[in-house]
Amino acid sequence: MNDHPKLMKQQILFSAEADVHNPWKEWGLDAFTRTCRFIVDKRFEKGELPSYLASIWNPSKTLFLEGGEGTKSIETCHEIWEWLDDFGTNRGTWTCVIGGGTVTDVAGFALSTYKRGVPFIFVPTTLVGMIDASIGGKNGVNYHGFKNQIGTFQLPKATIIDGSWMDTLDSLQLISGWMELCKHGLIHDALFWNSLQDCNPLNTEQILPFIERAANIKQEIVELDLLDHGARKALNLGHTVAHAIEWLAHKENRSISHGIAVGWGMIWSLEWSGNYATDDTTQASLNQAQIALRKWLDLIPEENQSAWLSTIAPNSLWAAIEKDKKNEANRVYDVYLTSIGEAKWHTEISLESFTSVWKQVFK
Ligand SMILES: NC(=O)c1ccc[n+]([C@@H]2O[C@H](COP(=O)([O-])OP(=O)(O)OC[C@H]3O[C@@H](n4cnc5c(N)ncnc54)[C@H](O)[C@@H]3O)[C@@H](O)[C@H]2O)c1
Repeated sequence: MNDHPKLMKQQILFSAEADVHNPWKEWGLDAFTRTCRFIVDKRFEKGELPSYLASIWNPSKTLFLEGGEGTKSIETCHEIWEWLDDFGTNRGTWTCVIGGGTVTDVAGFALSTYKRGVPFIFVPTTLVGMIDASIGGKNGVNYHGFKNQIGTFQLPKATIIDGSWMDTLDSLQLISGWMELCKHGLIHDALFWNSLQDCNPLNTEQILPFIERAANIKQEIVELDLLDHGARKALNLGHTVAHAIEWLAHKENRSISHGIAVGWGMIWSLEWSGNYATDDTTQASLNQAQIALRKWLDLIPEENQSAWLSTIAPNSLWAAIEKDKKNEANRVYDVYLTSIGEAKWHTEISLESFTSVWKQVFK
């Protein structure tokens, strides 16, 4: 059951529909284009925008932000708030945010807090953004190295998904997005998960057909539980461990992208799920899922991460896990799979069980 039906107005639009004379009119967003400002990942400062954006873009009304985890900070919010102030922004002024998950997360947070919320639309430019970050209204910044500690819920009025942005993504960004896309199948749709098995995520043509279903899975789950009281928690599969890995990497000045950390976190979660498996078939499918994810994680061009992970003392990650914002009453809860496509989201983990599973996976 949805807590706030009035908030559920996010439209998901696919760029194939942009092949018309005025897609903004078709999308019912014509009015917004007259007042719209732009927050754009700096990467596109000199590049060409797709025609549906080029037709409305105004460089003098644009703020460019550096993409990457470092941009998700209160300092970036100050920059956005000052820019909004300079333009005399009010609740009738729209902003179009174009970028990956970090840019949409921080811009969404600044926009949802400015004057208690001004409207925005998202145009995600990474695979993570298209199938996850730009859908569902969670906006936020990191604080003291901990992920998304400060945030809001406010849905974009629309998200425009255009697979052609993937043409310039590198293999790290593609595998990152692939991990979040696989997660949607693992927690919610076993048939979808099965259909992913023959796909090579380094081939964008092969990924394209899966984007719409993956985006719709995220939307379906969010519509059940916008404010994260129940069903939405399933989307956190792998994230408790992933956020701890990201925290440690940040502390050690290492780079790890969010989707890759989620991939490793899911490997941990799949192993942990095995402790609850009630039959051999379930156990075998959980093992097979680990192999399927690892095949791509082991390929990533960052310095040998599984070697780094195997040097980590589980205790040092536990310090970050205890700070996870999903915890309740000093207890740590996490998501596991009862079978492929079915997630259980409120099971306590102890330091002992975390450690023993960590050692099994990263020995
Ligand atoms: N709000 C949510 O529900 C939600 C869900 C999932 C992830 N997230 C957040 O998303 C973030 C990760 O997002 P991300 O993986 O998109 O990272 P990102 O935004 O840092 O983008 C990765 C890199 O790709 C660059 N880039 C963006 N578009 C590009 C393109 N088309 N071609 C080439 N390079 C491009 C960026 O400049 C950046 O350097 C994390 O902070 C994570 O917490 C949020």
